[in-house]
Amino acid sequence: MKNQSELLEFAIKIAKEAGFIHMKYFGNINSIEKKSTNIDLVTKADLETEKYLINQISKKYPTHSILAEESGELIKDSKYTWVIDPLDGTTNFAHNLPIFAVSIGLIKNNTDTICSVVYNPAADKCFYAEQNKGAFLNNNKINCTSSNTLTDSLLATGFPYLHDKRYDISFKIFKDFYDKTRGIRRLGAASLDLCFVAMGRFDGFYEYELKPWDICAGTLIVNESGGNVTDWDGEIVPFSGSRILATNSKIHSKMIEILTKKEYQLFFNV
Ligand code: IPD
Ligand code: CA
Ligand code: CA
Repeated sequence: MKNQSELLEFAIKIAKEAGFIHMKYFGNINSIEKKSTNIDLVTKADLETEKYLINQISKKYPTHSILAEESGELIKDSKYTWVIDPLDGTTNFAHNLPIFAVSIGLIKNNTDTICSVVYNPAADKCFYAEQNKGAFLNNNKINCTSSNTLTDSLLATGFPYLHDKRYDISFKIFKDFYDKTRGIRRLGAASLDLCFVAMGRFDGFYEYELKPWDICAGTLIVNESGGNVTDWDGEIVPFSGSRILATNSKIHSKMIEILTKKEYQLFFNV
């Protein structure tokens, strides 16, 4: 990327260091803890990575706020907030599947994500973007696909740890899309699902009950690669992963038509 800002350079540097911490533990996990439920996990690598990232950011930018998955919010007197998922795809990581990443987004004035990085260390894939400067993977510009039909599309989705009353309907939605597309993948790392839309591996991605740290970085990367990110009914709701839809833009309205069907209204009444 030309004219890469100091903020982005810093974010890439600490994301790569965070990936180094992941790889120190990857394939070698001996302690997994459970968080909210039996399937919501946290490992030493999540915690050590988050500690490292918070330390680095606080040292370099002492006035910047930080929102991190494991530690919550550290509010400071600044217009900048770093949003961090130290290890996205913990279940994959704990089962030795190399589909996980560190995700770092930087929000300015509580309104715009101005730069972001998603780094998948097991494949040495570094996705990054800056507002109005395009999206990149390892220094090469990336773009979404141009498919404009669901029939030609490959989608991705995910399911939350919490199996609430929307859970059964989410499988009906899955079937609905499965019947109309080339298929749906469930990779288990939302930040990478978004980057894979940005680089054209997937044409669309939808999920519900995601958190800002899952989607903040990836959303900018999709937007900067020509894609579109909204709520399931087409509204732009910055930093909300509660019903996220990210596509190549071309199939956006077609996916909304399905997601807003009357029989799926439970999703809109919570
Ligand atoms: C999870 C992943 C997964 C998604 C879950 C997230 P974590 O994040 O992004 O793809 O389906 O809802 O919580 O817990 O591995 O950081
Ligand atoms: Ca996550
Ligand atoms: Ca995480």
